[in-house]
Formats: sequence, C-alpha cells, structure tokens
Amino acid sequence: MLLKGVLTSISLAITAITSTSAVPVGHSFEGRQEDGPVTWDTHNLIVNGERLFLFSGEFHYYRLPSPGLWFDIAEKFKALEFNGISFYFDWGYHSPKKGVYDFNGVRNVQKAFDAAKAADLHVITRAGPYINAEVDCGGFPGWLVNQYDMARKSNPENDANSAEWLEAIDKFLVPNQITKGGNIILNQIDNEYADNVDENYMEMIKNKFKEDGMDVPTIFNDIGSPNGNWITGPGSVDIYGWDSYPLGFDCANPTVWQNNRSTHWRDMHELLNPDQPFALYEFQGGAFDPWGGPGYDACRQLVNEQYAKVYYKNNYGQGATIQNLYMTYGGTSWGGLAKPSVYTSYDYGAPISEPGLMTPKGYEVKLQGTFFHTVKPFLTTERFEPKSDNSDIILIDGLADVNTNTKFYIAQHWDTASEEKDEFHITMETSDGTFEVPQDGKLILNGRDAKILTSDYDFNSHHLVYSTSEIFTHQAMGSHDVILVYAYEEEDGEFAIKVKNDKRVKVETEDESVSHSVDNGILTLNYKHPDGTTPIYISGAGKDLLVLVAGYSSATRWWAPITDAKKNERVLIQGPYLVRSAEVKGRTVAFKGDIDETTDIQIVAPESIRSFTWNGKEISMSPTGHGTWSGTLDFGNPEVKYTDLSEATWKYSPGAPESQPDFDDSDWIKANRTKSNSVTIPDTWPILYADDYGYHTGNIWFRGTFQGTSQITGFNLTCHSGAASAWIVWLNGHYLGGFDVGNQDFTNLNGTLIDPEGENIISILLWTTGHEDDWNADDNYKQARGFTKSELLGVSNQTIWSIDWRIQGNLGGEDLADPVRGPYNEGGLFGERNGWHLPGFPDDDWEEASIPESENRTGVSWYRTTFEMDIPQGYDAPMSLRFEDDSKARYRSLVFLNGWQLGRYANDLGPQTQYYLPKGILNTSGENTLAIAVIAVDEAAQIGKVILEPYTILESGIPEAELVESPSYSDRTQ
Ligand SMILES: *[C@@H]1O[C@H](CO)[C@@H](O)[C@H](O)[C@H]1NC(C)=O
Ligand SMILES: *[C@@H]1O[C@H](CO)[C@@H](O)[C@H](O)[C@H]1NC(C)=O
Ligand SMILES: *[C@@H]1O[C@H](CO)[C@@H](O)[C@H](O)[C@H]1NC(C)=O
Repeated sequence: MLLKGVLTSISLAITAITSTSAVPVGHSFEGRQEDGPVTWDTHNLIVNGERLFLFSGEFHYYRLPSPGLWFDIAEKFKALEFNGISFYFDWGYHSPKKGVYDFNGVRNVQKAFDAAKAADLHVITRAGPYINAEVDCGGFPGWLVNQYDMARKSNPENDANSAEWLEAIDKFLVPNQITKGGNIILNQIDNEYADNVDENYMEMIKNKFKEDGMDVPTIFNDIGSPNGNWITGPGSVDIYGWDSYPLGFDCANPTVWQNNRSTHWRDMHELLNPDQPFALYEFQGGAFDPWGGPGYDACRQLVNEQYAKVYYKNNYGQGATIQNLYMTYGGTSWGGLAKPSVYTSYDYGAPISEPGLMTPKGYEVKLQGTFFHTVKPFLTTERFEPKSDNSDIILIDGLADVNTNTKFYIAQHWDTASEEKDEFHITMETSDGTFEVPQDGKLILNGRDAKILTSDYDFNSHHLVYSTSEIFTHQAMGSHDVILVYAYEEEDGEFAIKVKNDKRVKVETEDESVSHSVDNGILTLNYKHPDGTTPIYISGAGKDLLVLVAGYSSATRWWAPITDAKKNERVLIQGPYLVRSAEVKGRTVAFKGDIDETTDIQIVAPESIRSFTWNGKEISMSPTGHGTWSGTLDFGNPEVKYTDLSEATWKYSPGAPESQPDFDDSDWIKANRTKSNSVTIPDTWPILYADDYGYHTGNIWFRGTFQGTSQITGFNLTCHSGAASAWIVWLNGHYLGGFDVGNQDFTNLNGTLIDPEGENIISILLWTTGHEDDWNADDNYKQARGFTKSELLGVSNQTIWSIDWRIQGNLGGEDLADPVRGPYNEGGLFGERNGWHLPGFPDDDWEEASIPESENRTGVSWYRTTFEMDIPQGYDAPMSLRFEDDSKARYRSLVFLNGWQLGRYANDLGPQTQYYLPKGILNTSGENTLAIAVIAVDEAAQIGKVILEPYTILESGIPEAELVESPSYSDRTQ
C-alpha cells in the first residue's frame, strides 16, 4: 500500500515536470546577484557565507495584539533554538476598505521585524496576497468579497487590488530584507497555490514584489505533498518546497497516529529540485481545533514531543534543511479574525502555548535545534545504507557528510505508531574501524521514539568514534572541552572517543553505572542514562573532557545559550524553566530567563568565568570542578494581585432594542440590492448578504417590515453563514427561536403574532463566525453571510418588496468607528455601535448586577466592571478570563478587555472556556475595563461564573511590554 502511494505520487510529479518544460536546472537568480547574501545549493541555504539549517517557526503578529510581547515570543523562539521565524501577513487585518491601509499600533509590522532582529532570527515573509492561516477570508479583506472578478487570478480588477496590498506591505518588507541590512532572507509567493491555478497570476505577484524592490530568493509552499508546482516555467520560484501535516487534525483521538512518515521525500526532492535545498515551509507543529472540538490539550497530546522526535527526525533523515514549524506560537484569533473552522484560541498545541508558556514539545525541539546548530557535518550529507540487525522492525536512515567522515544514523520504527521497545545493533564503518554498536549493553528504541546517532566526528579538540546517546551540544571551555549526550532514563549508553595514549587515560565519576575500557587508542564508556545528569571527567586523552550524560527529562532542562554568535560559543545551564539568553561581560555570565519555582541549577562555563547574574541579580554559585558550578535560583514570594470578579460590582444593561417593534431603524441601510458578487446563489430578493452592504464581521442585525394581510400565515428564512453561526428571530418583539444555519419556516402565526391590518416587524440577530477561505482558488471566500431566502407564507405572487429589509453591522461599516482596534474588533450589536465595550463609557445609570447572573435574561445583555491588576516587577503572570458554567440554556458571549474583543464564548458548543488576556492590552499595574455581551440563543439565559486567574506565575526576564493604545469612549468620533 505504501509503495503504491509512493509510485503514484512520483509519476504524478513526473507528469508535472514534463508538462511544463525540461528538468529543473538549478537556481536562476532572475537578475539578482549570485554573490548576494542569500545563496544555496542542494544541501543548504547559505546566508552571508554561512551554511544554515534553517530551523524556523511560524508566528502571526496579528494573533498577539501587543507588540511588546512580540519581543518576548521572539526571545522564546531563540531560546528553543529556532534560528528563523516565518510571518504570514494578513491583508484584511490592515485594510478595512479599498485604498485604506493601517500599519499603526498593533498593526505596526516593523516591530515584528525589530523583535526578530533583536533575537537574531532570520525571517521568512509570506504576504500572500492569499494566506489561509485559518483567518477570515484566508487573509483577504472583507471588502474583497465584493470584487466582481476572481481572486488569485490575473484580471484587471484582481491585479489592481493585489498590487494595492503588495505596494502597502512592501514598504515594510523591502527595507527589512537582508540585502538592505534587515533579516528577511526568503519571500513566499501566494500560498499553497495548486488548484485552479493561473500562471499569469503567479507571475504578476512575483513581478510586483520585484518591482517594489524585493530581491531575496522567492519560495513556494506546495500543498500537502511534493506535487511539483512552480518549480519551472512561468510563475516558478527560486526555492521550491512543500507543506505537510502528517498527523492531521483529529485531536479527538489524540493517541492515534494515522499516517506513517514519508520515506520517499528524498527521492522526490532529488527528482523535483535537486539543485535547491529540501524545504518544508510548513511542517506540522500542532493542530487546530474546531468549534465543539476536543480542545487544545487534546491537540497538544496528539502532536506531542514523541511526534516531534519521530516526524521531525524523519524529515532530517530525508534530507530537509529548511523546516518551518506551523505553528510554533499560535496565539489568539481575537475579534473576528478566525474563519469558521476555528474558535478564539489558536493555541494550536504548538511548542509555545497561547499564553507564551513552555511545553514538552518546545523542550524537544530545543534538543534537536541545539544538536544541528552545533554538529555542522549534519548540514551537508548524502544518503548511505547502514547495516543493522533488526532492519525489519527498525528503519535506519544513514546520512554521510560529504566533507568529512562523519556519519549519522537516524533510527525509528518502520511502523511509526509502534509502541514497542526494540533492541538493535548498527554496523558502524568508521575511519577508526568497523564496530557492531553497541559492543556492550543494549541499544534500545522506545515506541514512538527516534534517535540520531553520530559516528566519526571531530568535536572541539576531540574525536568521537561513536555514541549511542544523542548529542545535545559540545563546547570548548578554555582548558577543557565539554560534550552533553542524552537518552531516556535507564537506557544503556556507549560512548567512544579516540585517545592518544591508552595508558594515560583517566576516567573519574561518582556514577557507579559507568565502566570504561581503553583499547587500541579508543576509550569506550558504558553507562546507564541517569535520572538527572552524570558528569564523567576524562583526562589524559588530549585536552580534558567533561562528558555530561543526561536522562531525557534532565536534558530537556539543559540550555546552551549562545554567548558569541560569530564563534558559535555557548555556555551550558541546567534547571531553569526557560533560559532566554546569556551574555559574557568580562568574568561574569549574565543570564536572562524564567523559573516557575525555586530551582537548583548547574552551569558549565569557561574557567575564566567567576560570577553569574540571573535577570540582573547576582547569584551565588559554588564551583564543583572542571568549570562546573551549582547553585539555586530563588523564586521569591511574589504577590500577584487581581480582583476577585465574583466580588466585583457589575453594571448591567439590556442590549437588544432592535428586537422590539418600536425600534427606529430609519438610519440603517436599506437592503435593496438585486445583484451580488457572492458565490452564493440567492433564492429570493433582495440580496440579504451582509458583505454587499459593507458589513464584514461579527454580529449583524436584519429587520424586515411587511404589511399584514389576512392571507399571510408566516414566513420562511434560510440562513447562510459559517459553521457555529447562530441566528435568533423575533416577530413584533416576540422571540421565535434561535437556530443553526439553514432553513427555518415560521408557520401558523396568523391569528396570533401577525397583525393582519398593520405593520409587522421581523428582527434577526445573526452571530457570524467569519468567512470561508479560498483553498481551491475558486472564490469560496465569497460565500454569503446572511440570508438566501426570505419569503412570506400564505401569499402567492410575491414581489421582491413583500418584505422591506434593513441591515446593520458594525458602526461605520468599512469606515471604521474604531480604526485603532481595527476591522475585526466590533460587530453590529447595539452596545458595540454605542461604545458600551469601551473604557470610560458612562454606565452610571445602568443597573447593578452580579455575575453569575441570577435573572433570566432575554435578547442581549451587557455587563461591565473594572478591575485592578498588580504583577510585581520581575515576574510574569499571563492572565486569563475563564467561564464556569453548567447552564442548559444556550448563549454566546463576547469578551472585551479595555475595548478589545479577546474572546468569543459559546456555552452550547465549547470547547473553549479560558481566554488569554495579553499584557499590553491588559494593564498589569493598574485599572482595566471588562465588558461582556451575552446573547441568549434560547429565549433566556444566565451567564455563569467568570474568573480572572493567571495560567501560571514565573519569575521572569520578560522584556517590558508597553501598554497598547486603547482609545476610550470619549475618543469615539462617529
Ligand atoms: C437602495 O436604497 C438606497 C437608499 O438606501 C438608494 O440610494 C438606492 O438607489 C437603492 N437602490 C436600489 C437598487 O433600489
Ligand atoms: C421553506 O423553504 C424551504 C427551502 O426552500 C422549503 O423546503 C420549505 O418547504 C419551505 N417551507 C414552507 C412552509 O413553505
Ligand atoms: C391562518 O391561515 C390559514 C391559511 O389561510 C387558515 O387555514 C387558518 O384558518 C388561519 N388561521 C387563523 C387562526 O386565522
């Protein structure tokens, strides 16, 4: 079965090549200088002359509306050994209206580049125009829904609109390229563009970038697998690559690994683009979760650290040297940013969680990244076939460096999902002889584990013959060298180095599991991986060598922060939750980092170092010999103060006057259109699609007036909107029901609710969940948000105007009432239109209320309170608002913190109950305004408990995050 799959995709790829032109002929720089700062060959990207494993992580600045925290996240990327960061740019986030672009405040993308630069990360830019990213319209602005011509095709209207965006964003991209002193090294053209393609469109986008001054290599991320799109011919890019999500998105079955890893990618790469490095521009870093899904803890389990071991190491075994993990920090789809398939949290089960916390997978990728940023021969390898004794069960990819004798053996189960523990031996042919490894003890592969073993490797002043422990890093520390190796606790390890003189070698350790033998110039150590880290001192083998043998969980807390990037010098520190950076200042190492409790630490530093600081404070460390030190970081006794919301004073106001017949909607837009550019075909007219009237986000009101007659028995409506939408209907102020999308008829209303003589009013509140994306480049993002059918029942020969409809969305429509918070923050609730969510709104004459609510509330209810926060200096306490609720009545809620819509809660769907309140929006040393809108989907509802609480408290080196500008009610001009 597997083989058949391989053959099919290879033959597909061959078709793709022959149908365009000849076999790819390597890099064409399209007029750029071949000696520019970014070049490449079959192995690597070469940046300023340096070969790289580009280990990149995806980050979306628009999913963290607090630029100060971008610096925090970038530091965390660096700490986890990423050397790159990939940004999608979201057109819709910057453009509420054709011709209007905003790059201020939370939209200031320059700060994202500054954050990447401060953390010394290379940048991949992906500005679309189409991106997907599970955002509204896949990144197209709401106004593009009304474009007549097709998107992602070349035609005058779409060319002009695409160029408008690129011109706006290129003003930021161009000066941040490495060619202009910035750190952008690669620029993507569109996104996963593989269906319904138009090569003129690709050319047009590429040319526009070039015209505007983009001169770094272009890239393309093929969809799902190596399909061979845009390698040659019109629209082709400099460095082709593909995306892959091998475990899929079924977080409901978090232990089921559906797909074996690919073993044919190397062949595909050699076939498709052998003169370019093998690039995975999006490789699964987690999984998204839908409304009603199992939640991100389940996704974190599905795509866990074992997954990271097996699947990422397989990528390296296949020869990948560009790997971008999507997502590495997911963040928050705040406001109306999400498309219907996802809810507010976009945590993604990523290596760094939504509130910025470390995860087991984060620690695992750090182990991998530190390895290949240290062990340089890993960058330039060719495949060889290693010999082993259990090859039916265990697959071993052999990688041989083309410049040295160093070889790598990447061992994993053939059956990726296997949970068996299996034993094996590898025949290692080295320049020091051939060895059946291990010679003593056992070499074990756990279920869902993968190992990269190294042989014949010169490190610092030593020569490794082989090691069955994986290498974390090694470093010269003045008069001695240090190497740190690891495996799961209790596993045997064998580590062999060359020595000059068998007789002079001395091995010192307190660990009784360690034995050694010296034979023919080779010292072999045998040991058990401890619960912790065992130091073994070797002298008489050339320079002194400190071998640190770590058990896996101890290894995850080793950090090797770079102290000199040019010389690739690092110090080692074990224990802390997070080490952000280390700087050598004279004889002191200054660490920045975070701890979650009082933490015992060990440091290994050059002997010239005499003292250490942690977040600016001196720490007392005791020397333990051979350049090692031990000590304790004190967590202190932080008092994080925040209001107990159950004791807060809440103000309440009802907020759905539109549901009542006497509401004056005369200033609303008349829905009188008979034509739409939507792809949704209407059943009746007028067009009742919100976008056609300039409303693209959040809740939308529709009010329909009809003159009663004795024949009219009711009406019939069909709602068209995204998954998890809801609509609530009133007739003449009477609640008729709350519904999912689809058709609903309202019958037998004559004699009861319908006035046969007078005017009747239908009021509908539609809770939208964003627009679809444009996955297949077929304009699917233009699906309607509104109603395809509105018909009176009982009357024949209806005219278009049998119901007069008016529509209301966010205040100002495309002319935003609140440009600072932008196009996705506000919808069309009465309270939103009137600034009830904003700080400073005068709610003095509102009733006092309590939450949890004790009254049954119909329609829309608003609650406001203020609360105080005080997080002491030197600590980080990422905060959240959590709903606790066992109500059976369905309701939906919008959470506004200081006017920013940070959460959409659906008690009838879930799964999200906890909402992240990022520092910067949250004033962590002062007052905050919280406003919550509650929309009863059932006739009446009661909001449950809301709880303010930190996810955790960290003693932290987090950089200062400025408060984001949050205009108040009195700043509102409309
Ligand atoms: C729709 O109504 C607006 C006033 O709200 C009017 O300006 C416009 O001409 C009308 N269009 C049609 C097609 O009737
Ligand atoms: C309402 O419209 C739907 C969809 O067009 C149709 O199937 C249904 O029969 C209609 N209901 C009535 C009572 O006409
Ligand atoms: C409502 O209209 C239907 C159809 O015209 C009729 O059969 C029924 O008697 C009416 N009901 C009332 C209460 O008037």
